[in-house]
Parts: sequence; structure tokens; C-alpha cells
Amino acid sequence: MRLLVSLGPRAYPIVLTAALPGAALGALAREVLSPRAARLLIVTDANVAPHYLAGVEAGLAAEGFATAALVLPPGETSKSMGTIEAILDAAFAHKLARVDAMVALGGGVIGDLTGFAASIYQRGIAVLQVPTTLLAQVDSSVGGKTGVNHARGKNLIGTFWQPRAVLASLATLRTLPAREVRCGLAEAVKHGFLADPGLITAMEADAEAILALEPAALTPIVAACCRIKAAVVAGDEREDPDAVDGGRAILNFGHTFGHAYERLLGYGAWTHGEAVAVGMVVAARLSERVGGASPGLEAEVTRVLARFGLPHDPWAAGVPGADALEPLIEAARGDKKGDQDGVRFVLLERLGVPRVERLTWAEIALALAPWSAARGLATRDGAP
Ligand SMILES: NC(=O)c1ccc[n+]([C@@H]2O[C@H](COP(=O)([O-])OP(=O)(O)OC[C@H]3O[C@@H](n4cnc5c(N)ncnc54)[C@H](O)[C@@H]3O)[C@@H](O)[C@H]2O)c1
Ligand SMILES: [Zn+2]
Repeated sequence: MRLLVSLGPRAYPIVLTAALPGAALGALAREVLSPRAARLLIVTDANVAPHYLAGVEAGLAAEGFATAALVLPPGETSKSMGTIEAILDAAFAHKLARVDAMVALGGGVIGDLTGFAASIYQRGIAVLQVPTTLLAQVDSSVGGKTGVNHARGKNLIGTFWQPRAVLASLATLRTLPAREVRCGLAEAVKHGFLADPGLITAMEADAEAILALEPAALTPIVAACCRIKAAVVAGDEREDPDAVDGGRAILNFGHTFGHAYERLLGYGAWTHGEAVAVGMVVAARLSERVGGASPGLEAEVTRVLARFGLPHDPWAAGVPGADALEPLIEAARGDKKGDQDGVRFVLLERLGVPRVERLTWAEIALALAPWSAARGLATRDGAP
């Protein structure tokens, strides 16, 4: 299956396949790269390489490309400027010229790193995204955001650099740990909540097959997510901070508090998707309490997350903010879309209809407080 991200001169195809990324990638590289492209640097990580690197190398070699591979340590800690230098060094060592390209073979970490390195190597060369996590296939490989983390926060340094093509092989998901699969499903339902209630219905109807990663069930879901993301990105490629309709910022649904949970729990305690899942419940509650959404939205969001085995109770014991709201609000204040007084927050008017609105932290705390206060009381009453 093939989709298109419509970005004028930077338009590019997203190819979804049930096969492993070998021959299909070779053919796609020949199609989208410069006719003079000869050398490719494949960037991947140590979890992905043993499964898929040889196939990718063979597929590219069959089309006459000379490849070199850089295998990075897996995980978020690799998203640093030091790693960018290592990728650039490897590109120089492999003598990549401006007509050549980098290939990102891995999850969102590899995609963000490789995209960033490609965007600055000799002022920018082509990059092909070959996402191997569900999160990367439904979200991060599309849209051209690249970057690394800084001591001050995640993804604070980076560029917009669209790939020349995306090849999403659903076959690679078979080796993905179940928790990482659910992490991707959280971003997939996010797309549904934001833009397409029909996607939610379809996902629920086929939940077992989707959780079992059956390509026939998963392909239409990944495709729908890519279409949604592509449409949002086409309307606001570089996330204009003044976009009137919220633009690309709507993709941040659930992320203000999601990032706060990640900060409070320490990165890695919850996956990003798990943190965003609970963040979406908080956002749904705020949508009802200050955004004018009808009662029932939060219950609906909660039910869908539960169906896919995702955490969905912001007030469960042990969740930051469940007993005292202040530390959670404090952590949310660190959000890069906010400041000391408030934040541009993504609310839902109803399922499929997002709205970005500036809310003050005081307003947010007030809207969430009764619930947490009630819970505090219950805990005290129930205490021995
Ligand atoms: N650029 C964007 O628009 C965007 C959007 C969302 C998230 N992100 C970024 O994406 C990153 C998260 O992405 P992720 O969840 O893919 O994380 P990840 O790249 O760390 O991958 C998760 C884990 O799965 C392993 N893995 C990857 N593919 C595998 C496979 N097929 N089989 C077995 N193991 C495999 C990885 O080695 C890693 O341990 C974050 O850094 C986030 O900031 C970027
Ligand atoms: Zn996310």
C-alpha cells in the first residue's frame, strides 16, 4: 500500500508492506533518490540490527548501492549531540556525497537521530525512514521532526527535515516487545481521538487481531494513522507557533501531562505511550470541565485505553498527582509549549474535534482539584 505526504516539492511516499524491508527498500531507494546516489549509511541500533540489518543491506546492494552501517546502543540515552557527531563521522568515513543518503532503520530514537544528522551533513542530504516500532510507523517516521535531547529536556534541539520516503514493514513488528506494541497503540488511538472516531471503532472491532499484530488487521490502522499525521503535517509543516487552528500542535493531545508523568517517574518507568495514555485521560477530563465537551468523553477515552491494555487511571495509587496535584502541575510547567502562567493545551470538543486553547496552570489545577481532593478524603477515611 502506498500513501503520499503532500508537501509540494518535499512530497514523499509512505510504503506499507507485510514483507521484510529488503527488496522493497532497494527499489524504493532507486526510485526516490538521485540517479547518481551510490553510497548509503544505514543507522540502526543493537536490538534491531541482528534481525533486519542483513536483509536491508542485501536489498540495497542488489540495487547497486555501497552501504555502511552504524549500530548504536539502543534507547533514549543515545539521543544526544555526541551520537550526532558519531553519525557524521561515519558518514565522512563512508564518503557520503550530497547525492547520497542515510537510512534510519529502527524506532523513533534512530529516526530522530538519523534525520537530524542527515539534515546537517554537508548542509543536508536525503534520508529514508525505515521505522521498526509501531510508534515510529504510526507517528515519528512521518512529518520530518528530528532531534536530540538536552539536559533541559527532551527533543529541545533539532530540525525539520522531511524524509525522501518512508518504508514501514509490518513484519518487523513481530520482534517488538509487547509493551512497545502497546506504546504504539497509544499514539494510534490518539490519532483516532483527534481526527477520526471511525479509526477508534475499527480498532476496537479488531482489537484481538491488532494486538496479535496480524498484518491484515494492522495495515489499515497504520495507514489511517499515517494519513491523519500526513494531513496535519501538510497543513502546518513546521509547527507555526501562531497557527490559528492549532495546526500541528494538536498532535500534542495527551502530551502535556504525558511528559509530566515521564519527568516525575523518570524516563523508562513508563513507556512514552503509557505516559501519554494517562495524559489523554487528564486532557479528556479538562475537555469536559473547562473545554465544554459533553460528559462521557473521559469515560470513552478511558474505556478505549483499557481495551488496549494501557494505563488509564490518573488517580490510581502510585501515579504522580493522584494524592497531591501540585508536583504534577509543577512537572507539567516544564512543558516546552508552556510558560510559568499557562500552556497551549489540546482539548477535545468531542471525539475527532480538537481545539488548542491557552489554559492557565491555576485554571488547570482548579479543574482537576475536586477529583484529587475527593480521592484524598476517601484515602484518609479509609486509613486504619
Ligand atoms: N519525530 C517525531 O515526530 C516523533 C514523534 C513521536 C516520538 N518521537 C521520538 O521517538 C522516540 C520513541 O520512539 P520508539 O518508541 O520507537 O523508541 P525506540 O526507538 O527507543 O524503540 C523502542 C525499543 O524497541 C527496540 N526496537 C525497535 N524496533 C524493534 C524491533 N522491530 N524488534 C525488536 N526491538 C525493536 C529499540 O531498540 C528500543 O529498545 C522518542 O525519542 C520520541 O521523542 C519522535
Ligand atoms: Zn508521543
